[in-house]
Amino acid sequence: MSEGEGKPPVVVVSEETSVTSGTAVQEKLIAAARVFSNLLKPTYGPRGLDKMLYKTNGSTAVTNDGAKIVAELMVKHPAAKMMVAMGNTQEEACGDGVTTTMILCGALLEEANNLLAKGLHPLTLVDGYRTALEVAAEQMDCDAVEVDDERLLGVAETALTGKGAEAAIDVFAPMVRDALTAIEGGVERPGAEHVAMFKLGSGGLRDSHLIRGVAIRRRVLLDTLPNDLVNAPTVVVSGDIKIRKMTRNAEIQITSAEQLDGFVEAETERKRQLARALIESGASLILAGGEIDRDVLHDLADAGILAVPELDESELQNAAAATGATLIDSVLDIDAGDLGVAGTVHWERRQATDQVEDVIRLDDCESPGAVTLAIGGAGETATEEIIRGLHDALRATSLALENGQLLPGGGASHARIAQAVRSASESESGRARLAMDAFARALETVTATLADNAGKDSLDAVLEMRAAARADGAPVGIRADGEIAEVPGVWHPRSVIEEGLESAVETAMSMLRIDQVISARGD
Ligand SMILES: Nc1ncnc2c1ncn2[C@@H]1O[C@H](COP(=O)(O)OP(=O)(O)OP(=O)(O)O)[C@@H](O)[C@H]1O
Ligand SMILES: [Mg+2]
Repeated sequence: MSEGEGKPPVVVVSEETSVTSGTAVQEKLIAAARVFSNLLKPTYGPRGLDKMLYKTNGSTAVTNDGAKIVAELMVKHPAAKMMVAMGNTQEEACGDGVTTTMILCGALLEEANNLLAKGLHPLTLVDGYRTALEVAAEQMDCDAVEVDDERLLGVAETALTGKGAEAAIDVFAPMVRDALTAIEGGVERPGAEHVAMFKLGSGGLRDSHLIRGVAIRRRVLLDTLPNDLVNAPTVVVSGDIKIRKMTRNAEIQITSAEQLDGFVEAETERKRQLARALIESGASLILAGGEIDRDVLHDLADAGILAVPELDESELQNAAAATGATLIDSVLDIDAGDLGVAGTVHWERRQATDQVEDVIRLDDCESPGAVTLAIGGAGETATEEIIRGLHDALRATSLALENGQLLPGGGASHARIAQAVRSASESESGRARLAMDAFARALETVTATLADNAGKDSLDAVLEMRAAARADGAPVGIRADGEIAEVPGVWHPRSVIEEGLESAVETAMSMLRIDQVISARGD
C-alpha cells in the first residue's frame, strides 16, 4: 500500500499482504460462497446423495447432514468461514434446514453478483433484500397451518427423508413422535436433550424401538442379583456406595487380637449400615455413579435388590429423570421422596458375544422425564448417520410441538414466498426492485436443486412452480420422484424455514457490506 508519486511510499502493511477493493471484493467472496453451496447441492432433498468424509486421523463418516459436513470441513477462506458459522447457527437453533440455508445464501450472493456487475450499489441490494424478507414473513403468515398429530408425524418424516434413517422411516418417524409425546415428568418443553440414543449393536434397523426409560451397558456383578423387576422403587446415587478410606496416612498399632477383631467389626458394621439404609428405603433398584462395596452388594442381593455401579453422569441424570428419582449424594440420608419408580427392569447377559457388558433396561416408566431410542444395526458408521438423522427429526418435531406452526416443504413454501416477493416488487419504484427480483430468483434455487437431484429439468420445474404459485391454489412442491404436485405430509416447523431464510439473508448482506479484503496471506 503506497501513496503519492515521486515521494517515498508509505508502507502500512507488509509486502505479502494483498488488498482487494471495489466489486472485485464481492466477486471474491461470492466465488467462495458459490463453491461451498455447490458442494452441498448434491446432498439436498429426498434424492440427495451422501458425502464421505475422511479425516487425517483416519476416521470416516458417511453423511447427508449439512451440519456434519460443515463441521468436518476444514475451511480456510473467510467467506466460507462465514457460511460455516451460519450453518452452525442454524444447526443450534433448529437442528434441520442447514443445507437449505447454505444453498440460499449461495444463491442470494450469486444473484447479487450479477447486479453488482451492472453497477447496482451494494447497499441498495441490502435494502431490497431486507424489504423482501418482510414480504416473506407476511407470506409465511398466510401459508402457516397449525400442527396436529398427523402433521407432526409428517414433520418427523420430512426431517428423516433423504437420510440413512429413511430406510426404516415407518419405524423411525413414529418413534420420534412417540418419544417426544411420552416425555412428561415435569418437563415443560420436551426436546432432543431429553432423548438418549442407545446403539443396540446387533439386529437390523427395524429392531429399533422406543424405551420409555433408559438402557445402560454395564456388567451386572453377581448372577444372584434379581432380574425382571416390575414397578421397582429406584434409588439413584451420584457417588460410591462404600465406606470411605482414611485419607490420612495413619498407622494404627494393634496390640491384641481383640483390638483387631474390634477394628474389623467396626468396618463391617459401617458397611452393614450402608446396606441397611438402602434396604430400609424400600428400593429394589439401586443405580450408583461410583463403586459399590462387595459386601454391601452381597447384602443387597440377599435382600432381592438389583444394584448397578459406575454409571456415568448422563446415565445417572437420565435414569433419575426417567424414574422420577432425586439424584442423591449420600446413601445414609435417603428420604422416601427421593425414590423413583422404574416400570420394568430387565437385564440380559449376552453369552454369545465376548462382550463383558450386560444390557440393563429400565422401561415402561409412568411419566418419564427422559426416554431412549434404541437403534438396531451393527455398522458403526451407518448407525452414526442414523443417529444424526434422528437428532434432526427430534429437533424439528420438538420445534413443531413448541411453536405449533408448520409450512409445506418440497420447495412449496420457498416458491410461494418467491412469488409474493416478485409481485411486491412491482410496486417498488426504486432500484431496490431489482434486488427484490433477485431475491425471488434466489429462493427458486431450492426448487431447482430439488428438481435437479430428482433427475428433472430444473428450468422447467422452476417455471411450472412459478405458474402454480401464481395460480394461488393449494401449495405445490416437488415430490421425491420429481413430479410437481401437492406434497401431502411434507411439513417443516415454520421456524426452520423462517430462521434459515433470515440467517441466509443476514450472512449474504454482511458479505455485501464488505468493501475491501485485506489479506495477510496474500490470497
Ligand atoms: N418426501 C418429500 N418429498 C418432497 N420433498 C421433501 C420430502 N422430504 C423432504 N423434502 C424436502 O427436502 C429438503 C430438505 O433436504 P435436506 O434434509 O437434505 O436438507 P436440509 O433439511 O436443508 O438440511 P439438513 O437436513 O442437512 O440439515 C426440504 O426442502 C424438504 O422440504
Ligand atoms: Mg433435513
